[in-house]
Amino acid sequence: MSKKISIVVLASGRGSNLQALIQAQPGYGSYEIKAVVSDIKEAPALNLALQANIQTQVVLPIKGEKRADYAQKLIDAIEIHKPDFIVLAGFMRLLAPSFIAHFSERIINIHPSLLPAFTGLHAQKQALDYGVRFSGCTVHFVDEGCDTGPIILQSVVPVLENDTEDTLSTRILVEEHKLLPKAVDLLAQNKVKISGRKINIGG
Ligand code: GRF
Repeated sequence: MSKKISIVVLASGRGSNLQALIQAQPGYGSYEIKAVVSDIKEAPALNLALQANIQTQVVLPIKGEKRADYAQKLIDAIEIHKPDFIVLAGFMRLLAPSFIAHFSERIINIHPSLLPAFTGLHAQKQALDYGVRFSGCTVHFVDEGCDTGPIILQSVVPVLENDTEDTLSTRILVEEHKLLPKAVDLLAQNKVKISGRKINIGG
């Protein structure tokens, strides 16, 4: 096995994907969560981190602050931990181009749809409203767009006849919790090669 990589997780909310990363960590043994950073003081994800003895930090946005200034505060908070990769797990803020450039090809995100369909908020509702038969989740590199970066892994989830936004979200979430740790493990093993928009998962 290659060296253990370190990651910093950014989360704004309940943190179930963070929890999945924490739980899968001993099994994979290929990554270490150095810190969890949030833009929300009360984010439940911070408590999950504390329970797992992971350092936490809150980087609060100030009203009227420029996106680039907030991005710099975030960069400073993250760089303390010198992570190999940044994992967005329900981080609800569009990151400034300066942030993306700083951590170029080192930021990944999990999104609850089969991208490029249904980017942005309420992806599961968008899928239901559109009437697709299959949805799912995607782990992708983050670029300057909203959920537009190169795709690392996807998992397909069928849409059932009586699905509501809640039932579909719950079923997709089960797959998210497997996909995100798997993607981080692939990064740790240096198996993820980017070539333009395409990702090659090497053996
Ligand atoms: C997940 O559905 C993820 O795909 C999306 O935001 C949600 C975060 O959920 N980006 P959680 O905080 O990880 O439970």
